[in-house]
Amino acid sequence: KGSGSPSSAPSARIILRYYASQPPPERKVAILGAAGGIGQPLSLLMKLNPLVSRLALYDIAGTPGVAADVSHINTRAEVSGYASEEQLGQALEGSDVVIIPAGVPRKPGMTRDDLFNINAGIVKSLCTAISKYCPDAIVNMISNPVNSTVPIAAEVFKKAGTYNEKKLFGVTTLDVLRAKTFYAAKAGLPAADVNVPVIGGHAGITILPLFSQAISSSDFQSRQESLSHEDVRALTKRTQDGGTEVVEAKAGKGSATLSMTYGGSIFADACLKGLNGAPDIVECSFVQSSITELPFFASKVKLGRNGIDEVQGLGTLSDFEKEGLENLKAELKSSIEKGIKFANES
Ligand code: NAD
Ligand code: LMR
Repeated sequence: KGSGSPSSAPSARIILRYYASQPPPERKVAILGAAGGIGQPLSLLMKLNPLVSRLALYDIAGTPGVAADVSHINTRAEVSGYASEEQLGQALEGSDVVIIPAGVPRKPGMTRDDLFNINAGIVKSLCTAISKYCPDAIVNMISNPVNSTVPIAAEVFKKAGTYNEKKLFGVTTLDVLRAKTFYAAKAGLPAADVNVPVIGGHAGITILPLFSQAISSSDFQSRQESLSHEDVRALTKRTQDGGTEVVEAKAGKGSATLSMTYGGSIFADACLKGLNGAPDIVECSFVQSSITELPFFASKVKLGRNGIDEVQGLGTLSDFEKEGLENLKAELKSSIEKGIKFANES
């Protein structure tokens, strides 16, 4: 078929087959906190990701078992476990992407900021090691409070002279998953037809889902309009309280791990695809930003060979979203400042 078309010429077919058969480039991913509630399933999903050629699993407790277990899966990534601080350098060396789910999770009644006293120090020491052993790596920060741990990481990297604002990401993908899921269920739409950017930060009212942008296709416009203002208000609140919903349901046994792992793996995969030159990779993330007056802000980000290609604008906001944006600024600003202060004083 199509004997006249250039793409079907034998030489073009050979070239296409040649490129299709090339394995993706070598990529090393390190997970810090790999034996935890998020770390373990994330180690599994990264082991299943064909873009990963080396997987370094680091934790201060329980790493050998997780590494041995995951290493028996017959996929591309070669797995190594690192179990003590002396081995952290080896775990990090040569990493393209470092994912950090190390630290304590919430219990019922706590805010994410209540984790600051323990997790800020953990993140600071891990980022100090990153600046020494893999200063060019992309960092995916999962540890809470993300609104403060990302600024802490930035300050640590600045002090070490290794800061690259294009390579530091607070992982907020779980907020996007929740917003899409809750919206699709309420609107009676297939989850795959819904895409909700979530902007701001990752705690309470700083999480701002843009439900007015949930559906781009005009076919669905009428159904979107059928959601009342009250519905949108309730969906916004549920998305903002999504983490607390899980913390309460787990009743003292931690916070979201499985949905977080799915979100974390989507985000790490997007970073790897970007590094490998795949086009049009866009995810929401909490990054250094000039979209608002705040120095860090979550919005849609285009990923490329050097990390962030472009921090994208917010698009058109509804009046409710404009109000939400103004209302979140004070809390987000103070969480960012708390992180910066900690990194520079301690
Ligand atoms: P967890 O307690 O099950 O696991 C944490 C792991 O970190 C443990 O294995 C622990 O040994 C390890 N750890 C502690 N100190 C360390 C250090 N210095 N170096 C390396 N590893 C260290 O907790 P979890 O449920 O996996 O949650 C981890 C973090 O992720 C929490 O702070 C939680 O709030 C956060 N979280 C963030 C999001 C998000 O959307 N960004 C979602 C869910 C959870
Ligand atoms: C979440 O959103 O589920 C996480 O940030 C964990 C938490 O403490 O809520």
